[in-house]
Amino acid sequence: MTVKIDTLLHESRRFAPTPEFAAQTAATPGLYTEAQKDPATFWADQARNLLHWHKPFTKTLDWTNPPFAKWFEDGELNVAYNCLDRHVLAGNGDRVALYFEGEPGDSRSYTYAELTTEVKKAANVLLGLGVTAGDRVAVYLPMIPEAVISMLAVARIGAVHSVIFGGFSAESLRSRIDDANAVLVITADGGYRKGKISALKPAVDAALQSNDSSVKNVLVVKRTGQDVQWNDRDIWWSDAMETASREHEAQAFPAENPLFILYTSGTTGAPKGILHTSGGYLTQNAFTHQNVFDLKPETDVYWCTADVGWITGHSYVVYGPLANGATQVLYEGTPDSPHTGRWWEIIEKYKVSILYTAPTAIRTFMKLGRQIPQKFDLSSLRVLGSVGEPINPEAWMWYREVIGGNLTPIVDTWWQTETGSIMVSALAGLTETKPGAAQVPVPGITIDVLDDDGQHVGHGNGGLLVVTQPWPAMLRGIWGDPERFKETYWDKFEGTTGAKDGPLYFAGDGARLDHDGDIWLLGRVDDVMNVSGHRLSTAEIESSLVAHSLTAEAAVVGAADETTGQAVVAFVVIKFSQAEIASHEDIVGILRAHVAQQIGAIARPRDIYIVDELPKTRSGKIMRRLLRDAAEGRDVGDVTTLADTMVMNTITSQMKK
Ligand code: WT7
Repeated sequence: MTVKIDTLLHESRRFAPTPEFAAQTAATPGLYTEAQKDPATFWADQARNLLHWHKPFTKTLDWTNPPFAKWFEDGELNVAYNCLDRHVLAGNGDRVALYFEGEPGDSRSYTYAELTTEVKKAANVLLGLGVTAGDRVAVYLPMIPEAVISMLAVARIGAVHSVIFGGFSAESLRSRIDDANAVLVITADGGYRKGKISALKPAVDAALQSNDSSVKNVLVVKRTGQDVQWNDRDIWWSDAMETASREHEAQAFPAENPLFILYTSGTTGAPKGILHTSGGYLTQNAFTHQNVFDLKPETDVYWCTADVGWITGHSYVVYGPLANGATQVLYEGTPDSPHTGRWWEIIEKYKVSILYTAPTAIRTFMKLGRQIPQKFDLSSLRVLGSVGEPINPEAWMWYREVIGGNLTPIVDTWWQTETGSIMVSALAGLTETKPGAAQVPVPGITIDVLDDDGQHVGHGNGGLLVVTQPWPAMLRGIWGDPERFKETYWDKFEGTTGAKDGPLYFAGDGARLDHDGDIWLLGRVDDVMNVSGHRLSTAEIESSLVAHSLTAEAAVVGAADETTGQAVVAFVVIKFSQAEIASHEDIVGILRAHVAQQIGAIARPRDIYIVDELPKTRSGKIMRRLLRDAAEGRDVGDVTTLADTMVMNTITSQMKK
């Protein structure tokens, strides 16, 4: 079956960096030409330029046993040394590494010299507890400096961290601890979220209750000061740190030494432990962080709003920025606590110049209205980034106009937990951007869009996104399950003509190439609908719906339909200010006509349900699977990963109205 995606949205707006911006950027078009000549050599150059190698590598890439890649295999480095000591040795010890802002308003900062000392002490604490290279350490912490310190301390001694997002339950924690056989858990009594204390220690206690776990000790950071249950294995972080030596010489580890495992959900089964290693991962993160965002470590204040519990927090809070010696903001809480202007207040306070966040946040701010950010001085911002899901052109334009003062470049960065680093993105100082498009592979990355037979779809067509060559930050496997690694990512195109030059990495995303060959992400392929033999993207219809002035948010699913195969079913949240003006019936009529007019009659939703809220995971992803259940009249499936597990009840009752 050939993939044919009807893309009838016409986006013709273009935004080149201003001449002043372009003149000061370090990135040059030469990066692309260099990389095209030979991607592996290009990455070897980057690895040598951007990192310190205790032992230089002589081999660049071993791809003789695909899909198991080895990068810079005979080289040795220490990841934490690259993120810390070398900046101090280069005379930048007094530069601020972290400006920490707690949700209740407490703040503290760490220079590179101070952060280095903290990590050295923490490394000694881990060694004192018997943790050795290769051991797994689970990190279950709020967004506080100790999370960064823990990750770097684990990396420093050549151990492997498995960070588990603080919003996950005891059960998820337990299964992740068990899967990796972690020997130590680093946690806190709790953290602050939405103006309240959110406890963490009880979940660790529950996860380790049965006493047959691999965990020997639990280090507990005191953050909130509430009472905690105390067990023999527990140790206060502060007690251990107080007596720990400040001296620790970083030892070199092989480039392919595992750095971390991070669990992510697939379409089926238990979450997969995505495995990343050291040298290649750090190289691509340092490179992309510098060039995508036009980073100037001496002057920029960078802020990535992601939690360290997700890959974005690993790559673009911890490893990329610190490898580059950047100054950054770390914020503990939620955007609306204690008031809806909190983020903008933080940007004003620290004069943040680069902001990296997610479309779901941008759309929430849109819903609240521009008068909130407009109360703050956001003039320090010079680059804006987006990640996590397709950003619809309306949100992109709002981000640029309202947050970016109509001046800042926006980089929409496509990548995944599995890719480790940004793969498709504009470069802030070079690329003429298009609202809603991730656009071009970063230098050194080769991407294609293929039909089901592995044939290149050609400009103007849609298909499946693949990575055609191994890349330095690629996952090295799924922890303990090499077969699942092959099946999930590499089997899809095996034997097709497209794979004749080597295996193709199947990302699971649909994409379209426009007439310039630029890439537009269309959402996961499981979210691509087939209506009367036409393929339609949920993202595209959602984008059309939210482009209408009535709509605040929209989610679209393909629901089984007897006549058309699938039918488009939309769930929309109406803007507060509009909800009173028109009747539900009128709104539904207006929106159906609007989609038909913007995209074509084929895309007109069969049903539109007006709801108060959409079902979202704790990381803000809309769970369309649940909406599909509701739209198809089935019992709604597993809701445990929702931020608010009651939301589906409300939605199904609102659908009956
Ligand atoms: C999936 C990966 C990468 C860090 C956060 C998510 C979607 C991610 C974009 C983007 C369109 C995007 C894809 C991808 N995605 N960034 N800029 N445009 N879609 O990591 O949880 O591993 O999710 O997020 O569908 O496959 P993740």
